[in-house]
Amino acid sequence: MKKLIIGNWKLNPVSLKEAVKLTSLIEKTKKNTVVLCPPHVFLSSVKYPNLGAQDCFWEEKGAFTGQVSPLQLKNFKIKYVLVGHSERRFAGDDDHMVNAKIRLALANNIVPVLCVGYKTTVLQDDMEVTDIIKNQLDLGLAGLEAEKVVVAYEPVWAIGSGKTATPDHTEKIALFIKNRYGVEKVLYGGSVNPSNAQGFLAQRNVDGLLVGGASLVPSYFNKIINL
Ligand code: 13P
Repeated sequence: MKKLIIGNWKLNPVSLKEAVKLTSLIEKTKKNTVVLCPPHVFLSSVKYPNLGAQDCFWEEKGAFTGQVSPLQLKNFKIKYVLVGHSERRFAGDDDHMVNAKIRLALANNIVPVLCVGYKTTVLQDDMEVTDIIKNQLDLGLAGLEAEKVVVAYEPVWAIGSGKTATPDHTEKIALFIKNRYGVEKVLYGGSVNPSNAQGFLAQRNVDGLLVGGASLVPSYFNKIINL
């Protein structure tokens, strides 16, 4: 089964020239479905089979300075959008905003990737994690068709830290998310690299990866997407 592997470039790189170069170095593999999420400013200029945005707004147009809407993204043939990333939640996004963003992404036929795991601690206690993400999922998915939403489990402490959740723990969390909400695809994110990626991909209920830092290094990302 093909997995879904998403590269989240975050606020990188700083120039269009570098963004185009980086994209050109990422293989177009058939082994997995690969999605690149460059910053919004580069979305119309980089060419890759599947592109995603790192965030979107919950209104289609109007007096909303600085925002980018799913309708605009659709016009650029953007297929996925990350929503509720912990770095957006730190900046003020709450679960109701996340819910509204997902709703509008779905209305525009863009697959929302709902990130949960903000406020988890380093304990990796299954009960603690399910308690925290339950809240994010109950509110984030309220009134929506959950089967059309991809969920990325990203324990906040694992992001950019070099520490990962264990594949076993991640499998249990993925199963919980699927059973409770009817979600069909769950990804893992947090310090994924070429050495640890396979452990997650080998899990039955882990349908792919959300990769940050390693997606900026073509030799690393190419290894991960070809596993
Ligand atoms: P890292 O892979 O750099 O830990 O980032 C994970 C992430 O936040 C992807 O969205």
